[in-house]
Amino acid sequence: MDYIDRFKNKIAVITGGAEGIGKGIALRLGREGATLALFDINNNLLATTVAEMQKEGITARGFVVDISNEEQIVAALQEVDQAWGRLDIMVNAAGIVGPTNTKIVAFPTAAFDTVYAVNLKGAFLITKYSLEMMSKTGKGRLLLISSMAGKEGNPGMVGYTATKAGVIGLIKGVAKEFAKTGITVNGLAPAVIKTSMNDNTSAAQLEYMIGKIPMQRLGTIEEVAAISAYIVSDENSFSTGFIYDISGGRATY
Ligand SMILES: NC(=O)c1ccc[n+]([C@@H]2O[C@H](COP(=O)([O-])OP(=O)(O)OC[C@H]3O[C@@H](n4cnc5c(N)ncnc54)[C@H](O)[C@@H]3O)[C@@H](O)[C@H]2O)c1
Repeated sequence: MDYIDRFKNKIAVITGGAEGIGKGIALRLGREGATLALFDINNNLLATTVAEMQKEGITARGFVVDISNEEQIVAALQEVDQAWGRLDIMVNAAGIVGPTNTKIVAFPTAAFDTVYAVNLKGAFLITKYSLEMMSKTGKGRLLLISSMAGKEGNPGMVGYTATKAGVIGLIKGVAKEFAKTGITVNGLAPAVIKTSMNDNTSAAQLEYMIGKIPMQRLGTIEEVAAISAYIVSDENSFSTGFIYDISGGRATY
C-alpha cells in the first residue's frame, strides 16, 4: 500500500541511514514525502546513499556523525535546526553487533565498551538531544531500534544483548517523562533481518537465531521500514513507551 504524502513537510533524522535498516526506513519516509537528514559514520556510503535518494527526487542531506560522540550529535542537530527549523521525527537505527558466539568469560571488556558506546550511550545521546529539540514544538516521534536480543537475551553476544536491553529501559522510562506532550518515544525489536550487519555473524549464531523464529526465515528491510513508518506517523498517537515487534512470531509478549 502506498501513502503518497504521509510524511509531507516532516523533517526526519535517521541515524545509521547509510545502509541496512536505517536506509530502508529513510527511503520509505522519503518516498512518502519526508525531508531527510541521514546521520552516519560511514562517509563514503553516506554520500552514495544520499546521491541515490536525491536521484529519486527525495530531499536528503548526509551528516557524518558518530552517535557515540556528543559534540558531533549536537553540531549536526544544530545544522538541522538551522536548515529546517525543527525536528519532527528521529529514528535511531545506528548500531553495532560486536563479538558473537563468544561466552562472557572470553568476551573482551574493550569490545563491551565499544558496543556500549554506540548502542546504549549513543541511544541515550540521540534521545536526549532529539527530545530537547522536539520540546520546542511540543510534537515529535522518536523511534529507537532495539532487538529481540534485548527482550529475550541471545547467548554468545553479551555486549549486544545487554545494550539492546538497556535501550528498552531507556524508552520505557523516558516515554513517561514526555507522555503529556505531543512527543512519543517507542522502540522496535526485530528478530534477525537480512542486512550486512549479519555478514560477519557466525553461521552457528545465525542458525540459532533463525531456529527460534516460527516463520523460519529472516525478516526483510522493507518489512521493518513498513512498521517503522507507521510507528513514526501522526496517526500513531496513543502509543508511547512501547516496544513493537517484528520477529516472525518469535516474541510471545
Ligand atoms: N540486522 C538485524 O538482524 C537486526 C536485528 C535486530 C536489530 N537490529 C538493529 O537495527 C539497527 C540497524 O542494523 P542493520 O542490520 O541495518 O545494520 P547495518 O550494519 O546494515 O547498518 C548500520 C548502519 O549504522 C552505521 N553506524 C554504525 N556505527 C555507527 C555510529 N557509531 N554512528 C553512526 N552510524 C553508525 C553504519 O555505518 C551503517 O550504515 C541496529 O541498531 C541493529 O542493532 C538489526
